[in-house]
Order: sequence, then C-alpha cells, then structure tokens
Amino acid sequence: MELINCKTMDVKMKYYLVTILAAILIITASGCADLQTDINQPESILIHNKDITNSSSPDFHGNLLKGKFWKMTECQACHGPKYSGLTAPSCLTCHTTSFGPEACNTCHGSFTDPTRIAPPRSINNNSNTSDKGVGAHSKHLYDNTLGNQTSCFTCHNVPQSIYASGHFDTGLPAEVFLKELALANVANNAVYDPTAATCSNTYCHGNFVFYKNEAPAEDQFVFTADSMAGLNNTVDWTKVDGSQAACGSCHGLPPAGHIQVPLTACASCHGTVIDFNGNIIDKTRHINGIINVRQK
Ligand code: HEC
Ligand code: HEC
Ligand code: HEC
Ligand code: HEC
Ligand code: HEC
Ligand code: HEC
Repeated sequence: MELINCKTMDVKMKYYLVTILAAILIITASGCADLQTDINQPESILIHNKDITNSSSPDFHGNLLKGKFWKMTECQACHGPKYSGLTAPSCLTCHTTSFGPEACNTCHGSFTDPTRIAPPRSINNNSNTSDKGVGAHSKHLYDNTLGNQTSCFTCHNVPQSIYASGHFDTGLPAEVFLKELALANVANNAVYDPTAATCSNTYCHGNFVFYKNEAPAEDQFVFTADSMAGLNNTVDWTKVDGSQAACGSCHGLPPAGHIQVPLTACASCHGTVIDFNGNIIDKTRHINGIINVRQK
C-alpha cells in the first residue's frame, strides 16, 4: 500500500487550485464565446531545469543562486515567505535546521552539522586547506588544541542576517577585519594580506612585549632585559601542517628577555598553563591575552 504523504498532498492541492484559478482567468480573459473545444490538458510548466536538485549538475539550485548573488527573495515568491511552500514545494524538506536555507551552514561550513558554520566547505565547495576560503579555519575554531577559542568576530564582521551589508553583497574574497585578541598588547598594526594570504603582526602569533617595570615587583627577577618579547611570526593562512603552531614558533621557550630554563622547568611557575613535559594543560589560559602567572 502506498503511504499518503500529507505534505505532497498539500502541495498537489495547491497546484490544482492554482491550475483551476489560472484556467478561470484564461477563460474570462478570452471570453466564453471564443472558447475552443480542442484545448489540451494544461501542459505542466517546468519552472526549473530538471536538475534543480542534482547537486553535481551546473543546473543545481545552489549554482543558480550563486549566479543571483544569493538573493533568495525571488524564490520566496513561489516557495513561501518562510520557504515552507506556497505555489511551489517547501525547501524545508531538505533544509531541515532552523531558518531553512538561510541557516548559517547552508552556503559555507558543514551542511550536515549546524554547529560548524565556517569553511570547510568553502563558497566554491572546496575543503582543501590550501584553498584560501578554507585555510586554517578549523584549526582556529573547531580543532584548536593549543590556545583559547577564537570566534568569527576576531577576524570578520559577523552578519546578523544573511542580507546584512558587508556579507555577500560585496563578493569574494571575504573581508577580514582583525579585532580583539589579534590586536592586543602592542599588536595594533596586525593585518591580513588577501593576496599573499598571510597574517602579520598579530598578538596571537607572538607580536607581544611585556615590560619589566609593569610586572609585579616579586616577578621582576624573571626579566634579563627591560622587556620580554615574542617572535612576531608572519603566518601563512593556507599552510596547515603544524609548523606554524609548533612550540617556539610564536615565542622562544622561554621568550627573549626571560631567564633561560629548560622546557621541563616552566611548569614550576606556569603550572596552570603547561605541565612538566611542556604540554598545554589548559588551553583557555594560553593565547588568551592574560599573563596567567600574575593570577596568584
Ligand atoms: C531535494 C532537497 C532540497 C530542496 C527541496 C532544496 N534544497 Fe537547497 N540544497 C540541498 C542540498 C543537498 C544542498 C547542499 C549541496 C552541497 O553539498 O553543496 C543545498 C544547498 C543549497 C544552498 C547553498 C548552495 C551552495 O552550493 O552553497 C542554498 C542557498 C539552497 N540550497 C537554497 C534552497 C532553497 C531556497 C530551496 C527552496 C526553494 C531549496 N534550497 C530546496 C537540497 C535541497
Ligand atoms: C514562479 C514560481 C517559482 C519561483 C520564482 C521559484 N520556483 Fe522553485 N519551484 C517552483 C515549482 C512550481 C516547483 C515544482 C517543480 C517544477 O515545476 O519545476 C519548484 C521546485 C523547486 C525545487 C525542487 C523542490 C523539490 O522538492 O524537489 C527547488 C530546489 C527549487 N524549486 C528551488 C528554487 C530556487 C532556489 C528559486 C529561487 C532562485 C526558485 N526555486 C524559484 C516554482 C518556483
Ligand atoms: C583566525 C581568523 C579567522 C577566523 C577566526 C574566522 N575566519 Fe573566516 N576567513 C579568514 C580568512 C583569512 C579568510 C580568507 C579570506 C580570503 O579569501 O582572502 C576567511 C574566509 C572566510 C569565508 C569565505 C570562504 C570562501 O569560500 O572564500 C567565509 C564564509 C568565512 N571565512 C566564514 C567564517 C565564519 C563563519 C567564522 C566563524 C565561525 C570564521 N570565518 C572565522 C579568517 C578567519
Ligand atoms: C545564501 C548563502 C549564505 C548563507 C545562508 C550565509 N552566508 Fe555567510 N557568506 C556567504 C558568501 C557568498 C560569503 C562570501 C562573501 C564575501 O566574500 O564577502 C559569506 C561570507 C561570510 C563570512 C565572512 C565575512 C564576510 O562577510 O565576507 C561570515 C563571517 C559569514 N558569511 C557568516 C554567516 C552567518 C553568521 C550566517 C547566518 C546568519 C551566514 N553567513 C549565512 C553566503 C552565505
Ligand atoms: C600560535 C602562537 C603560539 C604558539 C605556537 C605557542 N604559544 Fe605559548 N604563548 C603565545 C602567546 C601569544 C602567549 C602570551 C600570553 C597569552 O596570551 O596567553 C603565550 C604564552 C605562553 C606561556 C605563558 C603563559 C602565561 O600566561 O603565563 C607559556 C608557558 C607558553 N606560552 C608555552 C608554550 C608552549 C609550551 C608551547 C608549545 C606547546 C607554546 N607556548 C606555543 C603564543 C603561542
Ligand atoms: C621561575 C619562574 C618561571 C619559570 C621557570 C618560567 N617562567 Fe615564564 N614567566 C615568569 C613570570 C613571573 C612571567 C611574567 C612576568 C610579568 O608579570 O610580566 C613570565 C612570563 C613568561 C611569558 C610572557 C608573558 C606571559 O606570561 O605570557 C612567557 C611566554 C613565558 N614566561 C614562557 C615561559 C616558558 C616557555 C618557560 C619554560 C621554558 C618559562 N616561562 C619558565 C616566570 C617563570
């Protein structure tokens, strides 16, 4: 026995209704006297190409929308203001998370996991970290084992809704505006270069200077100079091989200007951050903009 799908029924009903209305209109417009008897059954008007739901076809609706600069208002006229169907079927049968096709993981991020809205998948469906649109997003946001969690806002202006200005009205490449932790301490000159895909002068990658005369008196013995500084590493966004997250790439172990001890000794003073093997034990306290050793 065939199961009757209420949604399909609903859509079919609407389709019939529209057809009947259209027929009445045609009849009224042409006048009953001209009514011909050889009118065929109404031809089903194919609004879209048959491959509209075939994701490997150039006629896939995702590609159609790319060509329309992602404006979905036109689609809503038939598919409903909430995309739940009107004269055309609902989009929500496939776009099942809240906000339907306007969900933040529809066009970038994981289509199946709404908690992952940043690439990979990039706008052009790329997942390779060598692609600028993908780069080190995961390492910063989802698979960050080294430091405090970053958010989109650290590197981008985040749109409040999909049609917010600066979102996709501006076209690729995506705008990068470094903020917050990226600019902490002396790093107010931090910058992203979209041509080279590099970040330079960021606090996070070692553009920091801490001064002896600003340290608590009992800690000043740690300084071997007026200040201690990081290595201010310029990093390549598309090189995700671990080398730019290696110990010693952002600051010396310990930094220049700091008394020199082996890595196995750091935990005696920085024990809330790392262990005696030099492993980060609390990433929320590393690359967080705070000198945790002062938090006694
Ligand atoms: C039959 C299932 C289905 C329906 C119905 C559907 N979609 Fe989709 N849509 C998908 C799938 C699957 C993807 C992701 C394809 C991929 O992996 O790139 C997608 C992707 C998209 C994308 C992102 C395109 C991209 O490649 O980045 C947009 C925007 C979108 N759909 C809008 C809509 C709208 C608007 C409607 C209703 C008018 C709709 N969809 C109806 C299955 C569907
Ligand atoms: C003039 C009305 C109309 C507009 C505008 C419209 N559609 Fe449709 N759409 C339909 C109808 C009717 C169907 C049912 C199949 C058909 O006739 O092609 C449909 C089917 C679809 C499907 C397949 C749904 C399924 O469940 O298989 C997708 C995906 C889709 N449309 C996407 C879009 C997108 C994206 C836009 C905006 C760019 C859009 N449509 C604009 C009328 C419309
Ligand atoms: C550490 C900095 C950083 C963070 C954090 C970050 N991004 Fe990005 N993002 C970038 C860079 C760099 C690019 C590449 C810009 C370019 O193409 O030159 C980019 C590009 C993008 C693109 C365009 C992809 C494409 O296909 O070109 C999207 C979409 C995006 N980011 C979304 C997000 C979202 C959503 C978040 C938060 C969940 C986020 N980003 C967090 C740095 C970041
Ligand atoms: C209909 C497709 C679509 C949807 C849905 C969508 N985005 Fe985007 N998003 C894009 C495109 C295309 C870009 C690249 C635009 C550019 O280069 O400026 C982008 C870029 C971004 C960026 C990078 C900065 C920028 O604006 O360039 C962020 C952050 C972002 N989106 C967050 C979000 C959030 C948050 C949501 C949910 C409210 C969302 N996106 C929903 C298509 C979409
Ligand atoms: C991506 C750059 C980066 C890498 C890689 C990095 N660090 Fe750091 N580290 C920093 C920054 C920036 C600070 C400055 C303080 C802060 O903001 O937490 C710091 C501070 C520290 C501190 C002092 C923490 C405190 O607040 O008292 C220790 C200890 C430390 N790092 C050890 C390590 C060890 C061990 C490794 C390798 C596992 C490592 N770091 C790799 C950027 C980095
Ligand atoms: C004898 C205690 C002591 C040892 C051992 C020690 N540090 Fe420090 N370190 C400090 C103090 C105290 C400061 C902070 C001075 C201040 O308040 O500005 C500091 C500052 C730092 C900073 C920069 C500021 C910050 O806290 O982020 C880094 C990075 C750092 N140490 C890394 C290391 C590393 C790596 C080792 C091991 C190779 C190490 N330290 C061993 C006491 C120590």
